[in-house]
Amino acid sequence: MVDDLKANVDMTPLDERPRIGILTSGGDCPGLNAVIRGVSKSAFWLGYQVVGFKNGFEGLIDPIQWQLLTPEVTSGILVEGGTILGSTNKGRFGARVGKDGRAELAEGILDQVAETFEKFQLEGLIVVGGDGSLSTALQFHEAGLPVVGVPKTIDNDLSCTAYTFGFNSAVLCCSDALDRLHTTAASHGRVMVLEVMGRHTGWIALHGGIAGGGDVILIPEIPWTYDNILAKIDERTRMGKNFTLVVVAEGASLPSGDLVGQESDNMQTKLGGIGQIVTEELDRRIEQDVRCVVLGHLQRGGGPTTFDRVLSSQYGAHAVRLIVEKKFGQMVCYDPPDILDASIEEAVGNLRTVNPDGSAVNTAKAMGICFGDTPGYANPFH
Ligand code: F6P
Repeated sequence: MVDDLKANVDMTPLDERPRIGILTSGGDCPGLNAVIRGVSKSAFWLGYQVVGFKNGFEGLIDPIQWQLLTPEVTSGILVEGGTILGSTNKGRFGARVGKDGRAELAEGILDQVAETFEKFQLEGLIVVGGDGSLSTALQFHEAGLPVVGVPKTIDNDLSCTAYTFGFNSAVLCCSDALDRLHTTAASHGRVMVLEVMGRHTGWIALHGGIAGGGDVILIPEIPWTYDNILAKIDERTRMGKNFTLVVVAEGASLPSGDLVGQESDNMQTKLGGIGQIVTEELDRRIEQDVRCVVLGHLQRGGGPTTFDRVLSSQYGAHAVRLIVEKKFGQMVCYDPPDILDASIEEAVGNLRTVNPDGSAVNTAKAMGICFGDTPGYANPFH
């Protein structure tokens, strides 16, 4: 078998140790390399070889693209952004995400994937991905292939885990941007609108907004009006604050109920643009200058925070353990303070949204942060 593979793909020879596969799929985020390293190191000590498949699920089928992930290869990548394996959210495994339903795979593709499992004699495959990629992994599992999942996304919208890795790093990026916007907004007496990612949930806007001292936070989970934002700006002016920081999640609906974005070629709505619309409308209604900043893919770039390094390392090591214990169809998860696991099916079935009456929103409201649902301060605890 090993000789066969060597004939097909001219790479470092496989040996007789049991073998684990790993791939990273969907949009990238900080911490992917830290997971790969966690898998590679912990598998090594348990006597396993690790094969990394490249460019998401694409590397699993013709032409198979792979590389051995020895501890030497993964040494030093803990702090690096991106993924050494590459990733894609397009291609032959294009998945519908979240609200849009389950992944739909082309006919015959599962047979090709099964052949690769057989060829590499994989004890299990670790799929590092968000809800789209994990719903593809679920289809593998249902077809009898040994897979486990690791929850990745800056959006933090997967169920069954308190945090996906990458989220904390994105929040830092958002709060860092607000720190910078704060000083320029104050100098010019402006309203600054910061559009952040998060798809159909407001986790990044909420946590980034609190961490960065935002005054207004608009999220998909809480309907808002322009009048309420104007009332907040007015309240701040009366309190002697000549500037306002508005954080808006890309997936927040406009007061009309419309989402802002475009249809994309992988069947999902590509969100984005609400920041500019909010900016133009506020600009039309107030004397103050209003400016828009779209944070975009900066939130996905760069190295992971220390929190994400720890979480990713734990996720990687726990995923190996799931394979060793043959707990297939499971996803590692964080149930503070423990790293546990839950079924992939349960995790991808429901989008985890922000609770509008939860403690983070109420804490923010208690400090006077406006979510656009009330005109000025409203005591959340009464
Ligand atoms: O799911 C992660 C995410 O960054 C979302 O927050 C965002 O809507 C989307 O991916 C952007 O995707 P793309 O990289 O395809 O523009």
